[in-house]
This record gives sequence, C-alpha cells and structure tokens, in this order.
Amino acid sequence: MNGSTWIPRRLTAPEPGWSARADVIVIGSGVAGLTAALRARDIGRTVLLVTKAQVNEGSTRWAQGGIAAALSEEDSPDEHLHDTLVAGVGLCDEDSVRALVTEGPAAVRELIAIGAHFDMDPSGAIALTREGGHLRNRIAHAGGDATGAEISRAVMAAVQLDPGIVVLENALALDLLLDETGAAQGVTLHVMGSGQRDGIGAALAPAIILATGGFGQVFGQTTNPYVSTGDGVALALRAGARIADMEFVQFHPTVMWLGPHAQGQQPLVSEAVRGEGAVLLDSAGTPFMTGVHPLADLAPRDVVAKAIMRRMREEGTAHVWLDGRMLGADTWFQRFPTILDSCRSRGIDPVTDLIPVAPAQHYVSGGVRTDIWGRASIPGLYACGEVACTGVHGANRLASNSLLEGLVFARRIMTALEEDELTVREPVAPSGPSGLVPHALRRSMQQVMDLDAGVLRSAESLSVATGELALLADVGGSSPSTEDWETTNLHQIATVLVRQALLRTETRGSHWREDYPERDDERWRVHLVSMVDEHGQVHTVQEPVRGTAQGWE
Ligand code: FAD
Ligand code: SIN
Repeated sequence: MNGSTWIPRRLTAPEPGWSARADVIVIGSGVAGLTAALRARDIGRTVLLVTKAQVNEGSTRWAQGGIAAALSEEDSPDEHLHDTLVAGVGLCDEDSVRALVTEGPAAVRELIAIGAHFDMDPSGAIALTREGGHLRNRIAHAGGDATGAEISRAVMAAVQLDPGIVVLENALALDLLLDETGAAQGVTLHVMGSGQRDGIGAALAPAIILATGGFGQVFGQTTNPYVSTGDGVALALRAGARIADMEFVQFHPTVMWLGPHAQGQQPLVSEAVRGEGAVLLDSAGTPFMTGVHPLADLAPRDVVAKAIMRRMREEGTAHVWLDGRMLGADTWFQRFPTILDSCRSRGIDPVTDLIPVAPAQHYVSGGVRTDIWGRASIPGLYACGEVACTGVHGANRLASNSLLEGLVFARRIMTALEEDELTVREPVAPSGPSGLVPHALRRSMQQVMDLDAGVLRSAESLSVATGELALLADVGGSSPSTEDWETTNLHQIATVLVRQALLRTETRGSHWREDYPERDDERWRVHLVSMVDEHGQVHTVQEPVRGTAQGWE
C-alpha cells in the first residue's frame, strides 16, 4: 500500500540555539502529561514538562461527562471490557483494553488520593451515571459536569508541589531529535516569552513522552480547544514512527448547533444528559432513536451520530433537537451547571427549551501506535492520552474511556522506562526536506476535511480531498509563526487520515463509507498503520488486532 503521498521530514532549522536536559521530557499538560510527570517522579526521574500554552489549556479541562471505571460492587472489569470491545467494533486490542479496565479503578482512587473530589451519592459512595454504550452505571463525575476541570486542578496542584518537575509553558515542541542509532534524544522547541529560553532551542533526554492530545482542529467544527492541532502525531510521523487508525475520528452526536457559519471549538452537550433521561427529537418532534438500537438514545456514539445524520439528510435540516425538559430545573442546576450556563449564555434555557444539536468532531481513536506499555516504534519515544493509539478504542471510543486511558497508560509507561535500556547520546541534526503550509490556508484545509472526509465519506469525496490537500502542501513560508507550524502539522495529519480512509473500503465504527456501507470482517479486521521513509514517502501497512477479542459482536 505504498503511494506518492509525501510528508516533509522536519519543520525547524537543523541547529537549535539553546538546550536543556532532564531524565524525562513530557510534552503536554493534560491529564496524560501531568500524570506521566508525577509517575516519573515516583521512579526517581527528573522531569521537564513542556507545554505550548498555559498549563491548563487542552481538552482535559473541558471534559464533562466523567471517567469510566468499574467502581461499584454490581460492576466488574470484565463487564467494562465487554462494553469497550462492543463499542470498538472488533478493532480494540484486547490486551490494552484489559489493562485499562483492570487498572482503571485503582487509577481513579489514586486521583482521589491526590485530592480530586468526585460527586457522591446519598450513601457516601461515588455517584455513578450512564453514558452511551455502557450497560452499567460506571461514570464517575465531578462538579456535576465539570469532571475534566476538577481532574486538571487536582493533578496540576500535585505537579506544582514537586520540585523535581520543571514546567516550561509557551513552549511548542516541533521536531523529534534522534541519535545516530535512531533513538529519541530530545525535541526542538519554539519558546515564547520565557526570557533566556526564547526562540528555537532543544530539550534533551533519552526518554520523550508525547502527551499532546488530539487533532480536532483538522475539522472546521470540533469540541476540541485551539491547542488540539495534532502536533505530537505529526512530529512522530515525520521522525518515522508508526501511526495507526487515523481514519477513526469520533463525531460527538450532541454538540450545540450555533448556525451554519460557526467555526472552531463548539459547545458540547454531554452524553450524560441523555444518561439522565434526555431524548433526541427530529424536526417534527418525534423521538427517532427507539428502534434504531436496543439502547435507543444511549446507543454507542457512532450509532447515534449516524442516526442523526440520516435524519438530518432525510429532513433537509442542519440539526436535530435534544429534549432535556423532563430533567427539571433542579437536575439541570445540580448535575449540569456548566451546560446550563453554556445554553443560557446563548439564549437557550434547557429547562423549558429544546437544544439544537448536530454531530461535530470530538475525538480521535488513532495516533502514535504504541504497545501495551506506551512504547512507540522509535526507541526512547513513548505516548499516552489522546495522542496515542494504544488499541483501547478500536473503531469507536466508548464514552468516558479517554480520561481513564490517559491515567492508566501514563502509569504503564513507567514500567517500560524501568525496563528499557536508554542511553544518553548526542542527537544528530535533523535532515531531509522541510516545507510549510501557512496558517492562511488552515480554513481551506478544514473546509476540505469537513466536506470530503467528515462523517460521511466515499472514494469520490476522499479522492477530491487527496487532490485538494496536495494543492495546499509545501507552498512556502520563510519566517514561520506558531500557527504556520500547527497548520503544517494539521495538514500532514489530514493527508494520512484521508489516505487511510480511502484505503479502508468498509463501514466500521466511526468510519462511514457511503460506497461501502457494510462491515467487512474478513478483509478489514486489521489496523492500518502509516509511516514515512527517509525521503518523506508515506507507506501504509496492515497490522493484526492484538488478542482474540471474543464477544465484541
Ligand atoms: P489534552 O488534555 O488535550 O492535553 C494536550 C496538551 O498538550 C495540552 O497541554 C497542549 O497545550 C499540549 N500540546 C499540544 N501540542 C503541543 C506541542 N507541540 N508542544 C507542547 N505542548 C503541546 N473524555 C472522557 O473520558 N470523559 C469525558 O467526559 C470527556 N468529555 C470531553 C468533553 C470535551 C468538550 C472534549 C473536547 C473532550 C472530552 N473528552 C472526554 C476527551 C478527553 O477530554 C481527552 O481525550 C483527554 O482529556 C485528552 O487528554 P490528553 O492529556 O491526552 O490531552
Ligand atoms: C460527554 O460528556 O458526552 C463526553 C464524554 C466523552 O467524550 O467521553
């Protein structure tokens, strides 16, 4: 599956101006990065944590619904495993899912031990709710619908207390630095406003942990914040690492619809609102999820998103409605204060009004391919959180498994760090061609992705996208800005995403091909993995799913 897709090998000048050293460099300050930094301290490593904006910028603080874990006596890791495998439609790596669900409850308790406050039920136990695809109540939440903000607060506070973790804000990681053996030895950084370290420099360590989050900004409408530009995936791709499952992009079914011209980060209406009883209605006021799936409005996310898209197409409307009026003012106020505020600030009162909603990009299952210990395919490079493809999510992530994955796999990387023989060597200057896509072209790229590689795809639309993206590539830019670098990363990711989406001639989970509407297990129960060779050519191979993963059908 080789082709002519071409990815420049570097963004930066070969020689950085200054350098800083640590045992471990963590890139990103969401739940995954902050947890990795804390756990690296547990094994006695010094940590330099670099993050491209303020520490609390990232998807983590926006998380609403909660964190999934088998915490109640009625539940079990095996049941959580089952629901995750079913949602992942045969592409989850069973070993990774098993690690997630068995280590998940302890990871949540660890969060509580460092000071995170979860909502309690009247008996004093952690209150648990339901979200799409879960057959049990197993979603713990904080501040009603402010789970991510509380987790972020607690983990940031723990990091601040540790003098062995140096945090460098406004530091954009650009390229991976490799030594002559091909092992990771650092990253080039562009730092703004930190005095001595301004400009292009390098952070050096024999262990680099990518925790840079997702790439929602590839699309015009997303729930992700502005920092979600997929820098870690692009950086790893350029360095030659294996990147997998890029075609599986999750569109959240209930994102508040703000009109046809809305762009960038859009307000989410948590699935937990449906977990508490809200239902989807079409323009005639008819509930349409009953009969589509046994779990109706709480079917897995891909099923609900597709049903909404179908209904919108049938009716020629731009959105459907979410009816949460039956929840009543008290429930809205206590359980969903953030969403209530967000609706009211836009003139919608969910206590009395219907909320206009439509699917928008939300999460990426794919990313930097890792083993079950978070190792990427380049020695010394590790990945956790949304940037990683650990195999936990398969073709469609089960709701609220993402924060959990960040916690569990950040910890697992420490086992790898202790086992791996990591040698400090001097990095060699990055070589190979460079090329940038200027920020001015970001909107054009997003339009291509929205129109031709979004929820609904076909060979025709994906071929158009391939051609349009190629026209946007490598158009120059001599003194690049942060936004130019980010746009280049988005463009490289979009290129691989479209390539894999074109190759996968079936419909599975969050990958929906109009021209191949059926699932094809015989041919496509495999991961697609892409990598770039030393000339910048992209190669895509198939990789078997790990584990037997029985019981997902
Ligand atoms: P992030 O939290 O996104 O952090 C990435 C970090 O990397 C940021 O600090 C960013 O600035 C930094 N960074 C990026 N690029 C660079 C670079 N080049 N150099 C330096 N730093 C860089 N999941 C759940 O499980 N439950 C939920 O209820 C839930 N609700 C959600 C609601 C919303 C609105 C959104 C957007 C997501 C939600 N998710 C939820 C998904 C979940 O929040 C994310 O998948 C998870 O927080 C990702 O954590 P992370 O640490 O991997 O990345
Ligand atoms: C939500 O609250 O609906 C988002 C949960 C998730 O993305 O896991």
